[in-house]
Amino acid sequence: MKCAIVTGGSRGIGRAICIKLAEEKNYHILINYASNETAANETLAKVKELGATGEILKFDVGNTEETQAVLTEWQENNPDAVVEVIVNNAGITRDGLFMWMQKEDWNSVINTSLDGFFNVTNFFIQKLLRNKYGRIINMVSVSGVKGTAGQTNYSAAKGALVGATKALAQEVAKRNVTVNAVAPGFIKTDMTQEFNEEELKAMIPANRFGEAEEVADLVAFLASRKSSYITGEVININGGIYS
Ligand SMILES: NC(=O)c1ccc[n+]([C@@H]2O[C@H](COP(=O)([O-])OP(=O)(O)OC[C@H]3O[C@@H](n4cnc5c(N)ncnc54)[C@H](OP(=O)(O)O)[C@@H]3O)[C@@H](O)[C@H]2O)c1
Repeated sequence: MKCAIVTGGSRGIGRAICIKLAEEKNYHILINYASNETAANETLAKVKELGATGEILKFDVGNTEETQAVLTEWQENNPDAVVEVIVNNAGITRDGLFMWMQKEDWNSVINTSLDGFFNVTNFFIQKLLRNKYGRIINMVSVSGVKGTAGQTNYSAAKGALVGATKALAQEVAKRNVTVNAVAPGFIKTDMTQEFNEEELKAMIPANRFGEAEEVADLVAFLASRKSSYITGEVININGGIYS
């Protein structure tokens, strides 16, 4: 059984990625989430409606022990399962000006994006290398590339993940494992629901927010065999804000 794991697959961009991968029917889909069980079940139902298979794995990607425990148990129960695709998509924001930023808001954002990448990817990396095939896709952000005022924590987390993407890509390229980052601008999800699209679209050349499905199309390409010679890249998907 060949599998793709999508962290933060219950809602938003992660859900759209699960659905896109389900449409292509190449993988059994492992839908990770942290707390919203109803949303995770809805994603799984949509995956199954499309004739694909999948299952839900609940764990906090930022919690090393919990991530290892859940993934170890899953692998022991599924000894023949091979994870080929890892989409490190789980992420949170805790916005605010740096001068008022609490350490907790710094830690939680870095922990989810950066430790989340470490915990999930490190668990599978040796298996990918032995299998001599893999696709690792890290969800970063325009904030991690150019920096965004009010998001010093988030920009740091995503910028660090860009560095990790480029370094790991060089370590594993010989074994046909690619590592790329996707950097969205404003995408319509729960994360941006407080934002005023009418006001903000003025600074987006495409004059609108993006859809989660548009990001999922890019991720699906990077997750496919067609992307075999692309690695260590950061691909911007932001309607022209920054490139
Ligand atoms: N939306 C944008 O404009 C935008 C722009 C650039 C980058 N991004 C990035 O794209 C990714 C997805 O964003 P989104 O807009 O789809 O966000 P979202 O709608 O807020 O969904 C976040 C997802 O991540 C999961 N999650 C959060 N913390 C987690 C943890 N510790 N462990 C496991 N899962 C966790 C959530 O699970 P629960 O349902 O259980 O809470 C949910 O499925 C993030 O990395 C974000 O930084 C988004």
